[in-house]
Amino acid sequence: MKILITENMGYIGSSVVRRLRDSYPKARLIGVDTGFFAHCLTNAKRLPETRLDAQYFMDVRDIPASLLAGVTGVVSLAAISNDVMGQIDEKLTQGVNCLASIRLAKLAKAAGAKNFVFASSCSVYGFAEDDSKTEQSEVNPLTAYARSKVMTEKGLKPLADRTFKVTCLRFATACGMSERLRLDLVLNDFVAGALLTKKVTVMSDGSPWRPLIHIQDMARAIDWAVFRPAKNGGPFLVCNAGSNAWNYQVKELAQAVVHEIAGAVVSINTSAPPDKRSYRVSFDYFNALAPKENQPKINLTDAVLELKQGLEEMAFNTPDYRNSHFMRIRVLMELRNLGLINSDLRWKKGNC
Ligand SMILES: NC(=O)c1ccc[n+]([C@@H]2O[C@H](COP(=O)([O-])OP(=O)(O)OC[C@H]3O[C@@H](n4cnc5c(N)ncnc54)[C@H](O)[C@@H]3O)[C@@H](O)[C@H]2O)c1
Repeated sequence: MKILITENMGYIGSSVVRRLRDSYPKARLIGVDTGFFAHCLTNAKRLPETRLDAQYFMDVRDIPASLLAGVTGVVSLAAISNDVMGQIDEKLTQGVNCLASIRLAKLAKAAGAKNFVFASSCSVYGFAEDDSKTEQSEVNPLTAYARSKVMTEKGLKPLADRTFKVTCLRFATACGMSERLRLDLVLNDFVAGALLTKKVTVMSDGSPWRPLIHIQDMARAIDWAVFRPAKNGGPFLVCNAGSNAWNYQVKELAQAVVHEIAGAVVSINTSAPPDKRSYRVSFDYFNALAPKENQPKINLTDAVLELKQGLEEMAFNTPDYRNSHFMRIRVLMELRNLGLINSDLRWKKGNC
């Protein structure tokens, strides 16, 4: 059994690798990542990549067919996961997030792989406050990132058949402690703010809906999808991945954080223009399809406490954390400003 995981050196990747290694100790696990955040480790006890059988430092756009030889499953975490980057260069976002994933799926199918899992996103629903969005609802992608997810799903569909199952998991917004932490995600940002500045600064009026999922629960879902039989959802499956209980308004998240962190207060920007990214999502389909052990298990309070403990153990005490290397855009911009990567997000020769 050989599983290839792209972009395994990101926020979610280390959690996915850990889960797959625990579930399949004898499987050959291969990682492919260009390594933009390789140095952004968070109090890791070991380099997360040592759980793999092989790590390839490679651009996902360049993966050769030979790397797929003998592969049974592929987990595609491929993405420039940042709305700001997407605004700067939508074509680049499409190239990495969409075209490279579709190309990879074609290579995987040709190599005889049985399952392809694509990390999609609930952000495809855009503004959707009135009712909970299901997989049958219209999509309304508002950013380059969300558009790239919709286009990838479309491009993957014709590839699926009974021997090559494709699963697009539309994940809720991620949260939780990781060996490569991000603080540009709503809950993680709130916990860092509460701990380091004693203030949770809500950039909107707090009313937007934002379903969340813990990264360990994302890994649980991927663990199911990477071996999913066709009778369990069909050859091509698009599925919201998360749990109904985690549909929160941003102000509820802020309140939950200050409840657990003594002395912290919530600051809501009452004059902020309405945040257009607001959606409630139904996870009923995922709940019906995935086995119980692959359903989300972590609750909001535990997620907050875990992040608090993680930040404390890191002895991270930078009040200006929104300018730290736990913000993706900051790391990418630094690599660009230092002349290490090109404008098309490739390492310059000699810097790889
Ligand atoms: N974080 C979330 O809230 C969230 C929610 C839903 C879905 N997802 C999806 O999950 C996946 C993983 O997200 P994440 O938060 O771990 O992202 P991340 O930004 O933390 O990590 C992305 C990884 O991709 C690598 N990478 C970027 N461009 C590359 C390229 N051209 N070739 C090879 N590697 C490249 C980076 O080095 C990095 O290790 C993405 O597809 C994302 O869209 C994330």
